[in-house]
Amino acid sequence: MAHIVEEIKMPINAEMKLFEQKFYESMQSNVPLLDKVTRFIVTTKGKQMRPMFVFLCAKLFGEVNEKTFRGASMIELIHTATLVHDDVVDESFKRRNFFSINALWKNKIAVLVGDYLLSKAVLLSTDYKDYDLLSVISTTIREMSEGELLQLEKARKLDITEDVYFEIIRQKTATLIAACCEVGVLSNTDDETMAAKMREFGTLTGMAFQIKDDLFDFLTSNIIGKPVGIDIKEQKMTLPLIYTLRTANADDRKYYFNTIKRFNNDTKRVKELIEFVKKSGGLSYAIGVMKDYQQRAKNILQELPAGEARHSLELMLDYVIERKY
Ligand code: IPE
Ligand code: IPE
Ligand code: MG
Ligand code: MG
Repeated sequence: MAHIVEEIKMPINAEMKLFEQKFYESMQSNVPLLDKVTRFIVTTKGKQMRPMFVFLCAKLFGEVNEKTFRGASMIELIHTATLVHDDVVDESFKRRNFFSINALWKNKIAVLVGDYLLSKAVLLSTDYKDYDLLSVISTTIREMSEGELLQLEKARKLDITEDVYFEIIRQKTATLIAACCEVGVLSNTDDETMAAKMREFGTLTGMAFQIKDDLFDFLTSNIIGKPVGIDIKEQKMTLPLIYTLRTANADDRKYYFNTIKRFNNDTKRVKELIEFVKKSGGLSYAIGVMKDYQQRAKNILQELPAGEARHSLELMLDYVIERKY
């Protein structure tokens, strides 16, 4: 897996290296507390898949330039802000195998730091008059907030449909990956057809990405960085669970509805539900849907000129569904 990431990064190694510094600079502030928190954020960085998407999509149409770097920073600022806020909303104390910002500094600071990061993303676009990027990222911030709220409203309903689930993950996750691809393209061309095409590629990829993330909840592993069954404990209905309950017989459905409703903090009952999902084919079903999105994303890539950037994007699609964390 480390090997595939290295191959993906081959055409953008120098850019990813330079990005570290630029991303840190994009967060800098004279407020000592903010400086402390942003230093913590850069030392606990994640996989940085989103800047990789930005750079690779830019490379499809030319060279990575200053606007591409600004676009990548805007995206990673939004990503970081939404994770900081998400951990407050989810009352989650772990992120990237470290303590989360809310665990270390409490909710008040986490909320305000998230706000600060969002403002920096917007300012980065207006400072340089990148109004096309401003439009993309403003829409993204709106959609992600709507997605998180839609999830709060709907994802705990036991009879949630797949369509609602897909709408939630499209808004909360896929839009940001779509924005990565669109921003990358716009940094090199104002061709709207291409921007829309790559945006669609990003949406499909992002759907697969979030289904993979939801599958992690059913797997025991110490590198994922969060405990197994946490979504079930939060009563968050994800695709494997939705499928399993829809296809279960009336007795099983009643029993497991009860597990989610009343015994969601009972480790034994949650484990039993996880086993039931596996036995019912809930994981295979979700994997099938995920691969379907992946294939549709691959088909879009086939329409693009062959080259190292397209090749890396193809590998990215494999990485999205095969990654171990
Ligand atoms: C986590 O995204 C948030 C989701 C949309 C599921 P990543 O898995 O890309 O997070 P990091 O940046 O690598 O930690
Ligand atoms: C991540 O969502 C945050 C956004 C997509 C905005 P989740 O709550 O599903 O993901 P993790 O598991 O905390 O990363
Ligand atoms: Mg969360
Ligand atoms: Mg969440």
